[in-house]
Amino acid sequence: MLNALLTRAKAGEKIAMLTCYDATFAKLMKQAGVDVLLVGDSLGMVIQGDASTLQVKMQDMLYHTRIVARGAPQTVIMSDMPVGSYEHDQALALANAQALLQAGAHIVKIEGGGHMVDTARHLVAHGIPVCAHLGFTPQSVEKLGGYKIQGKTEQAAAAMLADAQAMANAGASMVLFEMVPAALATRITENITVPTIGIGAGPGCSGQVLVLHDLLGIYSGPAETDPQAYKAPRFAQDFLGQSGNIAQALLNYVQAVKNGDFPAAQHSY
Ligand code: KIV
Ligand code: NA
Repeated sequence: MLNALLTRAKAGEKIAMLTCYDATFAKLMKQAGVDVLLVGDSLGMVIQGDASTLQVKMQDMLYHTRIVARGAPQTVIMSDMPVGSYEHDQALALANAQALLQAGAHIVKIEGGGHMVDTARHLVAHGIPVCAHLGFTPQSVEKLGGYKIQGKTEQAAAAMLADAQAMANAGASMVLFEMVPAALATRITENITVPTIGIGAGPGCSGQVLVLHDLLGIYSGPAETDPQAYKAPRFAQDFLGQSGNIAQALLNYVQAVKNGDFPAAQHSY
């Protein structure tokens, strides 16, 4: 399934990906033609009500991966490796990645380039498909000093390109870019051999991902945030508000990604 998708992406078809956390939405997304369901550790925010992804545990990821797989057994499922489950120990990373695959994932996502390249190589060598998440990496939100666009200087841009190439060379199946200037994401996409996925990374990537709750227009920040004060990220789009029902919103998202209408310039940096 994953290989067929990668082949279609390499032939130029845009990949439409959404975060998914439960069986009912998994089924609806499958029916709408979503290519990849991302069991994202964004569930720490949109499901669990925390302010970041830093409290998410392996057992949470396993639970949500299992129930998403139950709703869409024939769809590619990507699961995030949560903070602490892979960064410090390759053997632990492998055991946790294998557990996610057993729970129903087809590919796991890890954040970071640099020293994570060896971890990616280790997972791939043991038969685990990997997606590398570069640019803004939410598990490092403290280190990065908040939700900030990445790769703005020429030096940072060159480092991101090198990380993406290193991840592809290490055997990563895809590279995902979050909050990266559109021009940089396009340049990297043209200079690596694997498909790229963007979120706040412009229209030049091989595919797009959006957080389900942003697509539905229902996320207004963690519990302690005043919903009136919460500002949705630039790359969010309320497809539900525009289409009136959830099934249609999902279809419209898939279609907008496939034909290149989403993201538009106003969603990009
Ligand atoms: O957890 C998540 O939803 C993600 C996407 C923002 C890419 O990692
Ligand atoms: Na994530």
